[in-house]
Amino acid sequence: MLAEWSFEPGTIYLNHGTVGVTPRRIMAVQQSIRDEMERHPSRFILRALSATEFGRPLPEPPRLRAAADAVAAFLGARGADLVFVDNITAGVNSVLRSFPLREGDEILVSDLVYGGVLRAALFAARERGATVRTVEMPYPFRAERLVEAYAGAVGPRTRLAIVEHITAQSAVVFPLRETAARLRARGVAVLADGAHAPGSIAVDIPSLGVDYYAANLHKWGWVPRNSGILWAAPDRQKDLRPAVISWGLDQGFKAEFDMIGTQDMLQRHRAFLQNGFGPQPQCPATTKVLCCAAHLARMG
Ligand SMILES: Cc1ncc(COP(=O)(O)O)c(C=O)c1O
Repeated sequence: MLAEWSFEPGTIYLNHGTVGVTPRRIMAVQQSIRDEMERHPSRFILRALSATEFGRPLPEPPRLRAAADAVAAFLGARGADLVFVDNITAGVNSVLRSFPLREGDEILVSDLVYGGVLRAALFAARERGATVRTVEMPYPFRAERLVEAYAGAVGPRTRLAIVEHITAQSAVVFPLRETAARLRARGVAVLADGAHAPGSIAVDIPSLGVDYYAANLHKWGWVPRNSGILWAAPDRQKDLRPAVISWGLDQGFKAEFDMIGTQDMLQRHRAFLQNGFGPQPQCPATTKVLCCAAHLARMG
């Protein structure tokens, strides 16, 4: 297995959860896409990749959309509801900057929230005169107690809650579906942080009942970095904007996110399918990582 990775000799790498590692064979796929792009970068980036046109009709579905369909299928979702972002940080910032927060409103987070996400929430709140309330999660962690802690913290001005799917340091698989149901019943929108979920547990985003789901594929999806995704429920897409505005402004959810300036977006393109996630439908998603590891091992 070690030959699959590019570690310097003697490394025992224990931080895949924060900075994921990409197998060599996926990097080879990435390089082949990069080679293809460099044969005609303008055609690749401006026409083949995204649906945002520069005065020309597109001959076929843009490749980024085909990748979105494939990734969405892995997550139980429709490609039309999913866009690519650099990482969770970008996805969370997009939601927080777009969400109609007013002075006096409140965002709920738990004390298990990831620090970068917390800071994005604090910034968004500060800009609009809103506040962030941190809910203490009762230890030892039990699903019902976690749900109750969130539900019990909702106040008259709570508008949005950020809920992890799997927490960072403590690795708690959060009762996201139950928490989202309780919060939404009180009129609170739910932004799920799925940083560690795709590839490590089964994920079926629409069934979770959240408003937004941001996740990374560059952790347990084993693909190169800058492979974040942002899913939004259809009724939340209209006013959702990327953190960086470009050609897609006012052209709809997908167009807004699919072209945000000249970027090397190839890492989001096809590599996900090549890493063993796509062609192994018989692998239950909960054991996907192990299946993939076994698959890589079998392939020698
Ligand atoms: C729970 C959680 N949320 C968000 C992030 C941020 O991910 P990124 O740095 O890829 O945006 C991390 C990173 O480890 C995380 O563990």
